[in-house]
Amino acid sequence: MILTVTLNAALDVTYRVPRLEPHTTHRVREVVERPGGKGLNVARVLAALGHDTTVTGLVGGRTGEALRALLRQAAPGVADALVTVAGDTRRTVAVVDGTSGDTTMFNEPGPAISSEEWTAFLERYHELLADARAVALCGSLPPGLPVGSYAELVRAARSVGVPVLLDTSGEALRRGIAARPDMVKPNSQELTQLTGLTEPLRAAREARRRGARAVVASGGAEGMLAVTERGIWRAAPPRRLSGNPTGAGDSAVAGLLSATVEGLTWPDRLARAVALSAATVTAAAAGEFDRGRYEALLPQVSVTEQ
Ligand SMILES: Nc1ncnc2c1ncn2[C@@H]1O[C@H](COP(=O)(O)OP(=O)(O)OP(=O)(O)O)[C@@H](O)[C@H]1O
Ligand SMILES: [Mg+2]
Repeated sequence: MILTVTLNAALDVTYRVPRLEPHTTHRVREVVERPGGKGLNVARVLAALGHDTTVTGLVGGRTGEALRALLRQAAPGVADALVTVAGDTRRTVAVVDGTSGDTTMFNEPGPAISSEEWTAFLERYHELLADARAVALCGSLPPGLPVGSYAELVRAARSVGVPVLLDTSGEALRRGIAARPDMVKPNSQELTQLTGLTEPLRAAREARRRGARAVVASGGAEGMLAVTERGIWRAAPPRRLSGNPTGAGDSAVAGLLSATVEGLTWPDRLARAVALSAATVTAAAAGEFDRGRYEALLPQVSVTEQ
């Protein structure tokens, strides 16, 4: 199976209001709740691609229970190996203004994790690695966890020979890269923050020098740039697509990881990641992907070697 890790899971709540006006009372026309957190998004896409997929991470309290129930409904093919903690799983609240279409986000920080809870999680993670063909470590760290936590998870995967992809940001990414993951997938902003460089090729090379075996830098509608031990490739969608880019990066991670497990070459991995993420931008709901669009886009992705 493929394992995804979401340490800071969230119950994503979307409110639709006719028009958002601060200092007034709103009638919410529609409330949608879905299981959130980047590793859960990656897992849903992996399962939709037909891969045996397990999620782990930390959840707790009533929101944690609600998240698990929604995950069972929304993604019956994903096995739940989440570890329960004492604190309440966070919510993220997105308020969509029906007039402008703009979204205003309220992200709760997440529960504080104790060192005992982290130790219990590490035990479960080690057990799961024994059956994993690859692992994706995704998203932010909840409060209370040391900033080197992802680095620890990268080392654990490497020590048992399981390919590991890291998709996080800031100091957690910096530390994680030094632990030598097989792949990282920063977006332009994360890569610039990491390296201090704005030119993607120089920045991706620098990230690789710091320890990542392969760097796949995503650049929104421009597509992706991969700097690997086998070569350097650029992959681009046939055109800029309009829609909701939320979760496009998570679909890219699912594309890269599934294609790696299937033994595809770098150009084919990138073509899949670009087509899948573009088909996420055009999907009706954030974080889903449009299968017909994915299949139509796949042969249209251009991949060029540098
Ligand atoms: N407007 C678009 N048109 C076509 N493809 C897009 C568009 N936006 C994003 N993509 C595809 O999605 C990939 C990932 O997008 P992006 O670089 O925004 O990731 P991200 O910031 O990590 O996203 P996330 O919010 O999910 O973490 C891009 O490399 C590209 O292939
Ligand atoms: Mg991202």
